[in-house]
Amino acid sequence: METFESISKRASVREYLNQPVPKNLLEKLVDAGHRAPTARAIEPWEFVVVTERQTLDKLAGMISTGLFLKQATACIIVFCQDVKYYLEDGAAATENILLAATDLGLGTCWIAGDKKEYCEEVKSLFGVPATHKLISLISVGWASKVPKQHKKRKLEEVLHWEKF
Ligand SMILES: Cc1cc2nc3c(=O)[nH]c(=O)nc-3n(C[C@H](O)[C@H](O)[C@H](O)COP(=O)(O)O)c2cc1C
Repeated sequence: METFESISKRASVREYLNQPVPKNLLEKLVDAGHRAPTARAIEPWEFVVVTERQTLDKLAGMISTGLFLKQATACIIVFCQDVKYYLEDGAAATENILLAATDLGLGTCWIAGDKKEYCEEVKSLFGVPATHKLISLISVGWASKVPKQHKKRKLEEVLHWEKF
């Protein structure tokens, strides 16, 4: 798939088939994540891949906006060391994963991490040290139906040439 096709096809998927995602595809997604740009080339990220049903259900129970983790067959959690640009770096890695997943025909949804009240609970579930922040959780699976495209603001409305 062309990059532009992945970008325009990507849509949040919250309904999944009960079908596992092969390990090599999950590895490819993390590979895409860790190739993201990173301020000062620090690469502060760590990725935890979860496929165990019990753990996915536990996460769904902790995160009210991530209840669909009960259906997803995998979740990639992005953590970053608390450096100056941790959030930008982690967000860039997260978006790379979403686009790579679209390219592989997988469905994903970005679930909020940073600033959420469940950060510490999620960190403690995976034994994450205090030096690291929760950036995002990405549900991963095979979409049970073609995802609906969220209507975006028109390009003419958001694109400003030369000045705001
Ligand atoms: C920082 C961030 C946090 C998000 N958190 C959640 C979330 O907790 N739960 C959820 O269902 N979707 C979450 N989303 C997905 C957005 O709801 C979704 O991207 C938006 O509705 C646009 O739809 P689209 O992804 O299909 O284009 C999040 C997206 C971003 C960028």
